[in-house]
Amino acid sequence: MEGISVLLVDDEKHLARNIGKWFQSKGCRVHTAFELEEALSALEALPELDLLITDVYLQAGRATPGGQILAKYCAEKRPNLPVILLTGKPSMDLAIAGIRTHAFDFLTKPVHMPTLWRRAQKAITEMRLRARLSELERDNKLLSAILPNAIEAKDPTTRGHSDRVVRYADTLAIKSGVGEEERRDLRLAARLHDVGKIGIPEAILTKPGPLDREERLVIQQHPEIGFKIIEPLKDFPRVRDWVYQHHERWDGRGYPQGLKGEEVALPGRILILAEVYDALATTRSYKKPWSNEKIADFFEEEAGHHFDPDLGKIVAEGVREKGQDFFQAFSGNSEQEGGQTLSSPAQ
Ligand SMILES: [Fe+2]
Repeated sequence: MEGISVLLVDDEKHLARNIGKWFQSKGCRVHTAFELEEALSALEALPELDLLITDVYLQAGRATPGGQILAKYCAEKRPNLPVILLTGKPSMDLAIAGIRTHAFDFLTKPVHMPTLWRRAQKAITEMRLRARLSELERDNKLLSAILPNAIEAKDPTTRGHSDRVVRYADTLAIKSGVGEEERRDLRLAARLHDVGKIGIPEAILTKPGPLDREERLVIQQHPEIGFKIIEPLKDFPRVRDWVYQHHERWDGRGYPQGLKGEEVALPGRILILAEVYDALATTRSYKKPWSNEKIADFFEEEAGHHFDPDLGKIVAEGVREKGQDFFQAFSGNSEQEGGQTLSSPAQ
């Protein structure tokens, strides 16, 4: 915690100075302010601050206590700056107000310095972790959105395919009782499942009409290429597995490994159905979207052959009864609609 920068705000000047001395003895850079306006100016002028400690009843008599104004300011303008509120008049109302203004912590006077120091360290460490986490989440979101865009740049007919497959897979996962953690991984696998198409020649990807045997063998390499592309996802082994397995079949006649039945885990089997459903329900260069009736018949016939028998029946019944509406977005992850797809159960 050496070198951290703290702003101390209290109209009891001696207290602000005492806390300041304690923090300085720990190697901190200390700034002090004794009234609200001074504190607001300091917040503007000190972008590198690590912590704000402020008295709640700063300049008593204000309609809104000065400390709460500062906490609110930080929540809006400096969301990564932790705020610790101090008060000599503890009350439940005040504690609630502190939480409402997103203050990180709340301490009563008289201030016990070792306690304040411990809580200050905790606040800074936790806030830094939170900031890092939200940065990682943002990067992760961006990267997993960029990869499908890269496939779409190569093959515009797949526009929106990944987004729709995410939604279909998640709906089926909810209906099949898949837990939240596995659903999260499944959504990522659904988003990335066709990433291997980046490694397939454009002439084959965008060929109008059916593929010949050799071309089919080339396109059938895309699950393995995808598996290699997402190798850095070492912490998500099942995401990689489900991407690798998304063209397997229940009867073992799929590719690339010819896995059978429950050799593919339930979320992986769900992804297989979701991808095929999208292939059937959307336009391709040589086929129109199938009707709900025809899709329902197909899933019924292929339950226990191409598809997990239970899942095949669920989709057949659902699509027959509700059509597209069967795939309601439960997860709020359907960012994009429309578009076409190249993927097909035959490929
Ligand atoms: Fe695929």
